[in-house]
Amino acid sequence: MKGFTRLFAAAIVVLSMVFSVGVYQAKAGSAEGKSAFTSKNCGSCHLTTGPNTDKTFEDKLKRKGPDLWFAGSKFKKDWLVGWLKSPKPIRPMEYNSIEKKNAGNHGKLSDKEAADVTEYLMTLTSKDVVKGVVEDGKPNIQGKIVFEKKQGCYGCHSYTKAGKLFGGMSAPSFVDAGKRLQGDFIYAYLKNPKALIPVKRMPTYDGILNDNDMKAAAQYITTFK
Ligand code: HEC
Ligand code: HEC
Repeated sequence: MKGFTRLFAAAIVVLSMVFSVGVYQAKAGSAEGKSAFTSKNCGSCHLTTGPNTDKTFEDKLKRKGPDLWFAGSKFKKDWLVGWLKSPKPIRPMEYNSIEKKNAGNHGKLSDKEAADVTEYLMTLTSKDVVKGVVEDGKPNIQGKIVFEKKQGCYGCHSYTKAGKLFGGMSAPSFVDAGKRLQGDFIYAYLKNPKALIPVKRMPTYDGILNDNDMKAAAQYITTFK
């Protein structure tokens, strides 16, 4: 019994060392990621301290890229590392444009830079995105009805239906959105969009969809893989 207790204690020590090394590496990565973000001038196009104070469409049009101040509440970490190494167009059209096609020329990062910048971006969160509300990846019929029939989200957002690309081109694509977006972010954006994007082109659904519809739509979108 004594031997077992000692073994158990030793296992705890080893485990906590492994854990703190993990935490330490994440912290160091985040600091390096932040300096890479600064030295590569990512901040010339992306806002990292929120909230966004835009008041008019003119303010919005001055921005050259989407806000990242809530990146840690919005993206799935694995997707973010992959995208930074090998970016593919998310918006079919250029950012802030409804007529010019997205040229897909976003800068790339190396494996190490992408890992570090991801550690940094995942620390940027918004208090308006509450964690643990939406169960990501779980099928949701009610959400499908909201998305396809009740509101026609696909009028602006594209997605894959029966293996074919379907839907509008004026908004971020939802093809593979389940790999990219956290359900809790989608719900928060539907519920209180202005807390995240104060000037926006998307209609406001609060008052049109009820709370359950919003959670259901958010969950449904996280099944797109
Ligand atoms: C010249 C402006 C510009 C610079 C510099 C820039 N980006 Fe971007 N970034 C954009 C645009 C525009 C998009 C939208 C791309 C799309 O929709 O396909 C984008 C998208 C992103 C996204 C996805 C955001 C979302 O909401 O969809 C991330 C993450 C990102 N950039 C990180 C970075 C990092 C890290 C750097 C620095 C290494 C950087 N960007 C430099 C313009 C820029
Ligand atoms: C009239 C076009 C339009 C319709 C309809 C629409 N959206 Fe959007 N949506 C947008 C645009 C444009 C954006 C980009 C941000 C902005 O300007 O609001 C966006 C952004 C989003 C985002 C953030 C995506 C990202 O990657 O940044 C989510 C989530 C979203 N919409 C969900 C929905 C849902 C759910 C519905 C249906 C209930 C819907 N949208 C209907 C135009 C639309």
